[in-house]
Amino acid sequence: MKLQHILLSLAFLSDLLVEANIIPRYFAEIKARLEPRRRKKKPVAAPVDEDGWPKYFHEPGGSELANHYDSRYEHGILTYEDKQDTQVHMMRAYLDFFKKNGIETWLAHGTLLGWWWNGKMLPWDWDIDTQVSGPTLMYLGTHFNGSIYDYTSADSDPDLTPPIERQYLFDVNPAIIERDRGNGNNVIDARWIDMRNGLYIDVTGLSETEPSIAPGVWSCKNLHHYKTTDLYPMRESMYEGVVAKIPYAYDRILAEEYMEKALVITEYEGHKWHPELKEWVKKTPAEIKQERLDRQQARRKKQQEKEERKKAKEEKEKAEQEAKEREENEAKEAKEETPEGEKKDDTEPMIGPEPEDDHGIKEPEKEPIKVKRDAEPEPEPDLEDELPVLEKESSGLKHLRRRALDNDLR
Ligand SMILES: *[C@@H]1O[C@H](CO)[C@@H](O)[C@H](O)[C@H]1NC(C)=O
Repeated sequence: MKLQHILLSLAFLSDLLVEANIIPRYFAEIKARLEPRRRKKKPVAAPVDEDGWPKYFHEPGGSELANHYDSRYEHGILTYEDKQDTQVHMMRAYLDFFKKNGIETWLAHGTLLGWWWNGKMLPWDWDIDTQVSGPTLMYLGTHFNGSIYDYTSADSDPDLTPPIERQYLFDVNPAIIERDRGNGNNVIDARWIDMRNGLYIDVTGLSETEPSIAPGVWSCKNLHHYKTTDLYPMRESMYEGVVAKIPYAYDRILAEEYMEKALVITEYEGHKWHPELKEWVKKTPAEIKQERLDRQQARRKKQQEKEERKKAKEEKEKAEQEAKEREENEAKEAKEETPEGEKKDDTEPMIGPEPEDDHGIKEPEKEPIKVKRDAEPEPEPDLEDELPVLEKESSGLKHLRRRALDNDLR
């Protein structure tokens, strides 16, 4: 009983410490790695979709990363390097398999975007997407479902490391005969799965779902639409070093899906585009640290400038106030001065009562004499009024950019 209490408090405390960022992320990551396995033990009842199809493909879930593995083959989250290695070979093997069997497939979504940049995967991307035509999908379902493809990476150096034997399972969703979205449980039509670790390529079929209303419009179950003339004739290109097909109007397809920003921005998800290398390169910890320092410094500088502007404004206001008072006093003095031309000390304000006009003659109104003082410098134009607008604009833009990326660059 007592031991149980102690263990419970320890577990609670460790959760608290992670939450409060006291235990470093490292431990949180270990925890995250353990989580999918723990979750796998209790199978969830498969939700049935509207048309009576149970969800076919399963992922461990629980975290963003764990969603990219097939539950049957997943053994924890891969490192960045293993993930890159897996994805490159998985894609090569997939394209190889389709070519050998004379089946048409092409690149889609983020995979197509990666091709657009440099014919490679976007290194931060966990989704790999390809498409096939509806008739091809049916053919794959009847002829290739359950195929296991053995593949040995051609580029591994047998003198250094033994070649890695890789195996891929081609698994076709039985719900492919439905071409409507249903409740969204079966939008993925097929998967090419690395049986060593569960990473996969999502394959979706495009069907002309409404030939009478919208002829020549091809849709996937996740409701992306393509015109026949945007897809065909397919272009032949290279992807990760092997021949791959690209939809004819890839530029229009990409611009529509990702907005132009995704084709312009050169820093994303901890990676930087190096034009001379034609590569997205992961930032090193030193670079990330330096960037953080730069940002801090920029913030500090901005704060300092703001304070300086505020101080300058206050000083200006004070000077203006003083000048105004002085002018008023001088105007008063000038009024009291009788003969013109007589020089007066402009620093000493006139004290005492106003001279009485006991002759009943009203003195003509006089313009107050402007006394020349040392020339004051022109006050700096006040930036404070323009600033909030500028800041609003730039933060609005930043927001737009973030949204564009968050929504679409995955
Ligand atoms: C593919 O094979 C699996 C496993 O045998 C099966 O559950 C599934 O229904 C098959 N898919 C199709 C399209 O027949």
